[in-house]
Amino acid sequence: MNPADVASWISDAQSAFTAATDLEQLKSARLAHAGDKSPIALASRALGTLSADQKASVGKIIGEAKAEIAKALAQQTAKLEQERDSRVLLEEIVDITLPVRRAHRGGLHPISIIKNEISDFFIEQGFSVEEGPELESGWLNFDALNIPADHPARTMQDTFFIEPIESGLVLRTHTSPVQIRTMLAQEPPIYVICPGRTFRADELDATHSPVFHQVEGLVVDKGITMAHLKGTLDNFARHMFGPDVTTRLRPSFFPFTEPSAEVDIFFNNRWIEWGGCGMVNPKVLATCGIDTDVYTGFAFGMGLERTLMVRHGITDMHDIVEGDLRFTRQFGVGL
Ligand code: FA5
Ligand code: MG
Repeated sequence: MNPADVASWISDAQSAFTAATDLEQLKSARLAHAGDKSPIALASRALGTLSADQKASVGKIIGEAKAEIAKALAQQTAKLEQERDSRVLLEEIVDITLPVRRAHRGGLHPISIIKNEISDFFIEQGFSVEEGPELESGWLNFDALNIPADHPARTMQDTFFIEPIESGLVLRTHTSPVQIRTMLAQEPPIYVICPGRTFRADELDATHSPVFHQVEGLVVDKGITMAHLKGTLDNFARHMFGPDVTTRLRPSFFPFTEPSAEVDIFFNNRWIEWGGCGMVNPKVLATCGIDTDVYTGFAFGMGLERTLMVRHGITDMHDIVEGDLRFTRQFGVGL
């Protein structure tokens, strides 16, 4: 074996490794110059055929050559791996400044949000939430509430009647029929609120809608007085409009309450009518089979649109009913 050959194996290997521009090419160069069939490997294997003397001296040369070749390979491997890593980093870079594709989350309408808020407030105080049908019997919507057919109070609420008229069905004009349903179904003590959709043949204008929402409150228990009504409304008003709000009961008339009042609130420096209220008329209690010698009660009914408009300074009912997301989004998602 000629030492000059060994030197050329080393330089051949070094130049082949340096010439490799990627790890794939380096692999072929490694197989050719350091693999099982490379000249250096063949020479190494041939050592066994040499005499002991030669084995030592040639073995040393070959061992050093192998080390040189391995070193050259390691250097080029390190270089090419580093190049690959920085290239991959660049190629796989994520531009976090790119706008993402936004999927819109569903959200609740502000009327639903305020309805939930009111329900939570009363549930915390031990009230339960009752619901009734929107298509209601005229008897429950009017008669049982002491509004007989020929009573002028019927014309206070312009009613959508359902054909055929003999069906006796109406779109409920208020949530008060749920009072009757509750008193017919439950024994006192009764502490309920009834939020829901109501309908009147009113034109859609800045403050009215033919479809709107009310929340009814009804308490029937022993010893209930107007003071309980006032206290409940004060708490309710403070919860809805903040601690500084003032309420006022203004004498009014509803056939189903006696005495009756309008609840006004003083908010943003003016008095605003919030809803109706009163002590449940004993006639109504009696219709529902409640012993008027033992029990008294109070009831109230507020418009939810009205509540929302006052609280948020909304000046036009159209914004609430038209469903424009630019309006709705200002109230948050509320899920
Ligand atoms: C009633 O409907 C009574 N049932 C309230 C009541 C309940 C009194 C229990 C006593 C005891 P009124 O017709 O005033 O009352 O309506 C109550 C509230 O509903 C009004 O103050 C107003 O906020 C709201 N409201 C009435 N009509 C409309 C409408 N067309 N659009 C939006 N809100 C309305
Ligand atoms: Mg009114």
